[in-house]
Amino acid sequence: MSGGYGTRLAPITSAVNKQLLPIYDKPMIYYPISTLMMAGIDEILIITSPLFLNLFKKLLGDGSKWNIKIEFAVQDEPKGLAEAFILGEKFIDNCPSVLILGDNIFHGTNLIDLLLKTSSDVEGATIFAYKVKNPESYGVINFKDEKIESIEEKPQIPKSNYAITGIYFYDSSAVSRVKQLKPSKRGELEITDLNNLYLVEGKLKYKLLGRGYCWFDAGSIESLNACSQYVQIIENRQGLKIGCPEEIAWRNKWINETNLLEIAKEQQ
Ligand code: G1P
Repeated sequence: MSGGYGTRLAPITSAVNKQLLPIYDKPMIYYPISTLMMAGIDEILIITSPLFLNLFKKLLGDGSKWNIKIEFAVQDEPKGLAEAFILGEKFIDNCPSVLILGDNIFHGTNLIDLLLKTSSDVEGATIFAYKVKNPESYGVINFKDEKIESIEEKPQIPKSNYAITGIYFYDSSAVSRVKQLKPSKRGELEITDLNNLYLVEGKLKYKLLGRGYCWFDAGSIESLNACSQYVQIIENRQGLKIGCPEEIAWRNKWINETNLLEIAKEQQ
């Protein structure tokens, strides 16, 4: 989901879509695409605002260079994250699906295993919680004895320090559930309202991203900068890439070494 106008990042986003801004050495959208590919997903729908559609198409094409399928849909106005399921109904085609926010960056050991395990579980919905200092800026999950007690969207007085990250795994009923939702006070179909529908039926699960993981929502000036620095430091220290779709396509055996070398040459 790469809609919206990134108003919190103005003037950087006055002429460019937030998810096309660089996080160190690649466009922001590369990171969530990489996360999906690590979850074994090779069919991706990019939802963006009409103004930026062609820029995304120019950057990503149809995904064939990574041997995945990329399609596009337009969100005319920022009517909420859950609208993704209405816009993507045909693409989803009654299957389970994963929603990831275009400004969410995940990194950490065992992330691939965690994602693969989660995507093989197609019952109900699964969200991921991450401990932060400023939970009021996010959806917040409150749990006791491993059971979810509540989830709230940007509460003034958060009941815990656990933010709900911007990756959500759903069974095939997500589309029909979103159709039951009413827009919130700010006129949006809220992802937290969709998750609450699963919660009341006891069908919402969560997994904790422990302290060994790194999660950024690069939607503010501070986090955009912090995230770039993080990627720069780790990549330069290890000599390994973070959020590199061509590497993941190669490791997943979706492209071969010759394909990988061709992409590398193009980028030299
Ligand atoms: C959205 C969701 C919020 C979630 C966050 C994660 O907020 O509404 O529940 O915690 O993404 O990045 P937004 O960043 O759109 O304000």
